[in-house]
Amino acid sequence: MNKKVIAIANDHSASEFRKPIIEYLEQAGYEVLDLGTKDSKPVDYPDFGVKIAKAIVAQKAELGIAICGTGIGISIAANRFHGVRCALVYEEETTRLARQHNNANVIALGARIISSYKAVELVKIFLDTPISSETRHQNRIKKLD
Ligand code: RB5
Repeated sequence: MNKKVIAIANDHSASEFRKPIIEYLEQAGYEVLDLGTKDSKPVDYPDFGVKIAKAIVAQKAELGIAICGTGIGISIAANRFHGVRCALVYEEETTRLARQHNNANVIALGARIISSYKAVELVKIFLDTPISSETRHQNRIKKLD
């Protein structure tokens, strides 16, 4: 069986922060499409928002995790692409609802805002929460396009 592919993209603020997330994804049986920067040399977050958005639009990955210092810049960049629904999340409930109600296909995380431990918890919720089949939510998601 093919593994589900999860893309990860990050700027320099998350070169360490991303490591436990990647470890979790690999040990949970996902294939990681790693589009992030690996060291602390400054880069520009829009470039990484574009990388993850393009991977989602081209269906190279089913879901994505985008990380910058706050999560704000990279989420703005990713959301400029049609078909990308990137939700900036800092805690459990918004993460669950981003998936359940908004069918978010990317979450953005802030490496300077939350701990890596919290990030792994949010990633688990993102990957494990089913999308609501309720018509009102489905219709609203269609309207986004
Ligand atoms: C980089 O220093 C920082 O601006 C970036 O990671 C992010 O927080 C932007 O939204």
